[in-house]
Amino acid sequence: MREIRKKSEMVLFARNARAHGKRIALVPTMGALHEGHLSLVAEARKRADAVVVSIFVNPIQFSPNEDLNKYPRSLSRDKAALKELGVDILFRPAAESMFPPGFKSYVEVDGLSKKLCGRSRPTHFRGVTTVVAKLFNIIRPDLAFFGLKDYQQQLLIKQMVSDLDLGVEIVALPTVREFDGLAMSSRNSYLTAKERQTAQILYRSLCLAQQLIAGGERDLNRIMYKLRSLLGTEPSIRLDYLAAVDPETLEEVKKLRGKVLFAVAAYLGKARLIDNLLVDAG
Ligand code: PAJ
Repeated sequence: MREIRKKSEMVLFARNARAHGKRIALVPTMGALHEGHLSLVAEARKRADAVVVSIFVNPIQFSPNEDLNKYPRSLSRDKAALKELGVDILFRPAAESMFPPGFKSYVEVDGLSKKLCGRSRPTHFRGVTTVVAKLFNIIRPDLAFFGLKDYQQQLLIKQMVSDLDLGVEIVALPTVREFDGLAMSSRNSYLTAKERQTAQILYRSLCLAQQLIAGGERDLNRIMYKLRSLLGTEPSIRLDYLAAVDPETLEEVKKLRGKVLFAVAAYLGKARLIDNLLVDAG
């Protein structure tokens, strides 16, 4: 595995790979890699000739009161894991080269970026779409891999690629979970042992929605009430949102029909955790 830190070197590598007819896959990450990230890398390895993984803790997707400076870092472990999976390039640009003083241009997906997580993190998604657009322009990958754990993120990326004719195939892969269902996340490392125990209730609440629907419950108000009551049994959890939305538009649904995305975001200790489950209500 070769590590590239300079944008110009990354451009040259990608140009050369393309000239040799290679299909390039990109897996964008912020490091502190876990099995969720690595599932994307393993799939990318299967589907492309050259696999590029980026590690870049993107300053513009954090707001001033968020955890940019405390974001977990485990570079030597990350490198060993990526090498093991046969990654060709680790791209690790410096923040000053991605966002030099005077940087002024942003990519924003209207509407979708203001829903769900966009309500409490109003500039987060334009930070994500801008950095991903930059990575796409530097590397020009054929394919890029994202996790459904960040459902809204992958939806926004797909919209951006379509709207701006970026010509990258976006592959979205299932959420990898811990033994008790908690979605793997770099931010889980912020949790104390007790909070880690408590955290499993997020996924349990999503599963309850699925069970109720499978059991014939059709009243969404009743379902949401039961989910809120379950989450309410853990007073250390502060809900940001719990919502049932259309998986394409992220608009709240009032009636159960077809596919519904149940999505939750909550603060627990020092962490903000998110999870979601796509349920087929028939
Ligand atoms: P990061 O949180 O490091 O996640 C990188 C990729 O891993 C994202 O596509 C995310 O959805 C995926 N991922 C995280 N946890 C997962 C899990 N438990 N199962 C499956 N996939 C999982 O998301 C970002 O970084 C950034 O916003 C980024 C896209 C890199 C832009 O800065």
